[in-house]
Amino acid sequence: MDYFRYLDNRLHCEQVPLDQIAASVGTPFYCYSQGTLERHFDVFSRAFAAVDHLICYSVKANSSLAILDTLARRGSGFDIVSGGELERVKRVGCPGSRVVFSGVGKSGAEIQAALEHDILLFNVESHGELLRINTLAGRMGKKAPIALRINPDVDPATHPYISTGLRRNKFGIPHPQAMELYRLAASLEHVIPMGLDCHIGSQLTTLEPFVDALKRVKQLLIELRRAGIPLRYLDLGGGLGIPYDAQQIPPHPERYAEALLQELNGLEITLILEPGRVIVGNAGVLVAGVEYVKEGEEKRFIITDAGMNDLLRPALYDAHHTILPVVRRFDREEILADVVGPICESGDFLAKDRVLPEFHAGELLAVRSAGAYGFSMSSNYNTRPRAAEVMVCQDRFAVVRPRETIHQLMEHETLFT
Ligand code: LLP
Repeated sequence: MDYFRYLDNRLHCEQVPLDQIAASVGTPFYCYSQGTLERHFDVFSRAFAAVDHLICYSVKANSSLAILDTLARRGSGFDIVSGGELERVKRVGCPGSRVVFSGVGKSGAEIQAALEHDILLFNVESHGELLRINTLAGRMGKKAPIALRINPDVDPATHPYISTGLRRNKFGIPHPQAMELYRLAASLEHVIPMGLDCHIGSQLTTLEPFVDALKRVKQLLIELRRAGIPLRYLDLGGGLGIPYDAQQIPPHPERYAEALLQELNGLEITLILEPGRVIVGNAGVLVAGVEYVKEGEEKRFIITDAGMNDLLRPALYDAHHTILPVVRRFDREEILADVVGPICESGDFLAKDRVLPEFHAGELLAVRSAGAYGFSMSSNYNTRPRAAEVMVCQDRFAVVRPRETIHQLMEHETLFT
């Protein structure tokens, strides 16, 4: 459930009409509902109340400081994948004891920075990384708490670009190598095996793959215990999907928690979860202005001031995002159209062959479910300043990141002389 709805035919974020924000901020802009964000976090966290757990929101989904701060105040920890994300979570005052560090390519400098911040767990993805962490922790006179990220070889049945738990993916340690690597970890002087981690993919719409993966890693936990390597943490990653359209409704976080907790019954561990999309996806929209409506030979194009540099998901994954008029009218015909951006690529679309109310130049539209992997994947392609970001709390809104200026884009460039 989110707090975007029509009141008097104007689409509101909580109590603020989006056209009012557009008049003050310009378009395109991302608009986040703080109330929705808090609600999603609370629903997710409450679902796991029966067990000792830590929610580590996955920063990559949306790393804006206002989002991180809202979640940190709610008690969230963070799943980071870079030194940059570490600096962001430090900026919102998150202690290291609530940070886990994932990713296949952690650099020496990133590992050192995470060791300095005394993070909770390094989710280690290779033999080489394990040895590197051991060496660097040794130099700093520290012991690094680690989990091995296990690749359970389970098909998450999602888009191939966002599936991570299959044998052919670059992620994690192959299940058959896990025991040997844990033995090595236990023998090293400057790492302590503390946990086991697994993340199989994103935008999952059924529970079976999660349960299958959990069954495999649970067995491993038991074997490790027998081998004298007891682990305190089990990190099950993120991946729960959100309803982008009415056709595919993923399970509610409560059903997800029930399925996992049933499988975990009797296992004494602290559970870590790394949700991203399910927390922030439907807490944000992208508001764009219509520049032109063009009659092509085959179809109509609604050309907006937001493009694939602002929201890459449709271009990259053929993702569906619902598009709504910001001001609703009932005297409009329905048309079949592509909603496209100004970028010089045919892949630059926000929606393809979509039935929509007729739009006119100068009107506003809202792209729903844009809170996750929207702004965080945006770029300056075509020398376009990145959009402004706005947060709403009840009847108040504030710009939490101003629109970039073209001057900023060229600020640090020089000519070659
Ligand atoms: N943990 C790890 C180790 C991850 O790699 C990810 C996402 C998450 C947690 C959070 O997953 P979530 O709960 O958000 O599904 N750009 C793509 C999604 C890429 C996901 C990458 N990893 C998209 O726009 O669909």
